[in-house]
Amino acid sequence: MAGTVNSISFVRLRQPSMKTRVLTGITTTGTPHLGNYVGALRPAIHASQRDDADTFFFLADYHALIKCEDPARIARSRLEISATWLAAGLDPQRATFYRQSDIPEVPELSWILTCVTAKGLMNRAHAYKASVDQNTAAGVEPDDGVTMGLFSYPILMAADILMFNAHQVPVGRDQVQHLEMARDIAQRFNHLYGAGEEIFTLPEAVIDESVSTLPGLDGRKMSKSYNNTIPLFEGGSRGLRDAIARIVTDSRAPGEAKDAEGSHLFPIYRAFATPAQVKDFSDRLAGGLAWGDAKRELGDVVEAFVGPMRERYEALMADPDQIEDILQMGARKARAHAEPLMARVREAVGLRLGKAPVKAAKARKSGGTKARFVSFREQDGSFRFRFFAADGDALLVSQGFADPKAAGAAIKALQAGGADMSVEGEGAFVVSLDGAVLARVDGLAGAEARDAAMARLQAELTALAQADA
Ligand code: TRP
Repeated sequence: MAGTVNSISFVRLRQPSMKTRVLTGITTTGTPHLGNYVGALRPAIHASQRDDADTFFFLADYHALIKCEDPARIARSRLEISATWLAAGLDPQRATFYRQSDIPEVPELSWILTCVTAKGLMNRAHAYKASVDQNTAAGVEPDDGVTMGLFSYPILMAADILMFNAHQVPVGRDQVQHLEMARDIAQRFNHLYGAGEEIFTLPEAVIDESVSTLPGLDGRKMSKSYNNTIPLFEGGSRGLRDAIARIVTDSRAPGEAKDAEGSHLFPIYRAFATPAQVKDFSDRLAGGLAWGDAKRELGDVVEAFVGPMRERYEALMADPDQIEDILQMGARKARAHAEPLMARVREAVGLRLGKAPVKAAKARKSGGTKARFVSFREQDGSFRFRFFAADGDALLVSQGFADPKAAGAAIKALQAGGADMSVEGEGAFVVSLDGAVLARVDGLAGAEARDAAMARLQAELTALAQADA
């Protein structure tokens, strides 16, 4: 399985017509620290801003259950991590940002994949083997304390990835084996059930070498398990500066020349400062800047970066309902992909031959029928448009525009994914652009039908954007 890891900058160009789908999960157990921000969050948010990438980020709370049996901790961490991603600048309109446990198709797919996964493959997983080794060394039963959750962890992770046909999965080195397993499982499923088609895309692990790993207080990699972290938001500005003051330095006195490169402070400084600041800092350390002063400056540089994000973080933490709304929107976007894929998987394994997959298959075979916008002029002279799904169903009728240009601009914005959808009671929802109502879809037979209509609209728009990209 050599060659599945790409040590390249975040996103590689694929066929020009297709965006690279980038997906990663964040286990919701800890509290984010500076190392998480620099090593994972910041590069992921940058990737989400690229036009050639379609990004999916999710809170892996089913995975969190494997490591953590404290319900309060799970709930708290989920909130903190969502608020952190949003505060750090993730645009949930642009990226698909959701909670794993809001997507019932994920555990469903996980089971189906479990049925095609060799037990021997799971026996070889590093995390499981490490537990067995520890138990053996301690002289207890090899599987002591090992749950089926821990044992099957890589299958759930494969379901997370394969569900969205992700091309690239940015992860840490410790996760590379799990990506290889996801590929193995996808290949086996495609071979058994694909009838010549690739139902699942084979994902690739991406390790971005240009992203730095920050040292912690003691100089080892910053990690919760080493207890050497500098918190990102927790404890406020005081907590940040107190932690920085505890970074271990050598015993050189003020006035003595210091080697910036060799110090634990420097990589952290570099991660938050401009190149000019970095050069100046390093020169002054060589010129004898005291460690205490250097730490104060490091605190200033990090605070200038983190301070404004912390304000947003605190506002979000004070308004969990807002976070919940954002996650629900993400769940709708994610399910618009998961539902049709799961229907296809069920059909492939022979579980259910419902109407939806047959219809989808027809549309595919009839050769490129696409969703489309049709503009028309009202009797009162205003301009409107309808949006039709690929199978011809009308999904929305726009409000009236004074001129055709404005209607055209609205169509463009809608296609570019710039619209917001919000629920309006049981049987209706509203599509808006920059706060202005673009269309109201009503008369739906209840909350379920409404959510399905919203998911469908989202899916059709996404499919159209991908086809046009
Ligand atoms: N196992 C990953 C970790 O601990 C988290 C994760 C769960 C994940 N599902 C995923 C990462 C899917 C990437 C893709 O870091």
